[in-house]
Amino acid sequence: MALNMNSLNIVILAAGKGTRMYSNKPKVLHALAGKPLVQHVLDRASELKPKQVCVVYGHGGDAVPKAMVSYGAKFVIQEPQLGTGHAVQQAMPHLTDDSRTLVLYGDVPLTQHETLQQMQQAGDGLVLLTVNLDSPTGYGRIVRNANGAVECIVEEKDANAEQRKITEVNTGILLAPTQKLREWLSKLGNNNAQGEYYLTDIVAMAVADGMAVQTTQPAQRWEVEGINNKSQLATLERVLQQTIANKLLVQGVTLADPARLDVRGTLTCGRDVEIDVGCIFEGEVSLGDNVRVGAYSIIRHARVAQGTQIAAYSHIDSSEVGANCHIGPYARLRPGSKLAEDAHVGNFVEIKNSEIGKGSKANHLSYIGDSTVGARVNIGAGTITCNYDGANKFRTIIEDDAFIGSDTQLVAPVTVGKGATIGAGSTITKDTPPGELTLSRSKQISISGWQRPVKGKK
Ligand code: UD1
Ligand code: MG
Repeated sequence: MALNMNSLNIVILAAGKGTRMYSNKPKVLHALAGKPLVQHVLDRASELKPKQVCVVYGHGGDAVPKAMVSYGAKFVIQEPQLGTGHAVQQAMPHLTDDSRTLVLYGDVPLTQHETLQQMQQAGDGLVLLTVNLDSPTGYGRIVRNANGAVECIVEEKDANAEQRKITEVNTGILLAPTQKLREWLSKLGNNNAQGEYYLTDIVAMAVADGMAVQTTQPAQRWEVEGINNKSQLATLERVLQQTIANKLLVQGVTLADPARLDVRGTLTCGRDVEIDVGCIFEGEVSLGDNVRVGAYSIIRHARVAQGTQIAAYSHIDSSEVGANCHIGPYARLRPGSKLAEDAHVGNFVEIKNSEIGKGSKANHLSYIGDSTVGARVNIGAGTITCNYDGANKFRTIIEDDAFIGSDTQLVAPVTVGKGATIGAGSTITKDTPPGELTLSRSKQISISGWQRPVKGKK
């Protein structure tokens, strides 16, 4: 079968146990920037528009295929795990000989697209991604002959003292013509220090076949760093966050401190956006022009329109915020909140599954749930919608220009008419007529001559 240089199979090795994570979860499902490690690799893989992607998994039952089901990859189990060569063998039945095969590691999440493209362009033989390390301990070494041509890879445990001095190491990522790869893998043995079928042994076989072995190197060292423990996971998390922060800075976003920003998803920003320290963005978040986000705010799955000011310690989840709103400090918008422009939601105000109309305000200590609030409504401090009777939820409707006095309870289902005023401290259980004052409050009395109790002497 003729080899099509532009056609690609991708094999992702993800069967390693991850003993040093000390976790019941398969290693490749641990999250980096809110996304499982293997998903980072799958995302990179799909950018290369491969013909086939095959994930070799081993531990945690079918947790890995289940978590990644939407990727349309083939999942093949490797049981038992007899080495990297054995792992790639499991994928071979799913790969086509007319394509090249790229081997990636499920626990090496940050390899850049450009680096993989560079490998594809490096040649039509066997292409290895290598890196030079000051302390190469633990890695397979790239052994070259006097002319500098690659001869083989020797694993640390099989290397002699001379070979251990080599600082060029194997990252594990390689690209090979599939037909040859199939042939080499079928000839692998496990007569080595670890008793494993080493993928790396194919290098010497390629050389013996007279095939060119090219090497390329990534632009940054962290692109090929693998994760074996929580410390490495935390290190790569910072690396990734720094690259995200740098991209935002380059686009003109003002970050009070690029080292104190966490984006676990996609953050899209307009012009002149300012983000203070300690903010977390999750899922798809977009911030319009001139939006300011105060310190320690958490925003997930949300759209915030231009000019809106979010003060410190605000939480916004699965909500839409219109232009020029004022949110927080300490505001909480729960899923399904929709604020029209110029709305104000102040401190300790919780909004859930509600629409707040243009210019309306709830500035202090309120709960607005399952409500439709019109325009120019003023909701006084301490107002609460009683939307839940323990079994069912009901809606509260507050029409335009209503004024809700402080500490009001609106017992849903209930409608406050247009322009109505509710006296402070009322419990509203029936619809209130538009334009009128409604209040439910016992009359104030004073008792003259009343004596305050005093403590007895001890
Ligand atoms: C491997 C390479 C070594 C390289 C190093 C880079 C071999 C023989 N050695 O060594 O040259 O310097 O990676 O980190 O290839 N895996 C499976 N099934 C297995 C064994 C491993 O899926 O049976 C997966 C692991 O999940 C991991 C990757 O393959 O993603 C590498 O395995 P690991 O055990 O870390 O290989 P090393 O011995 O470190
Ligand atoms: Mg390793």
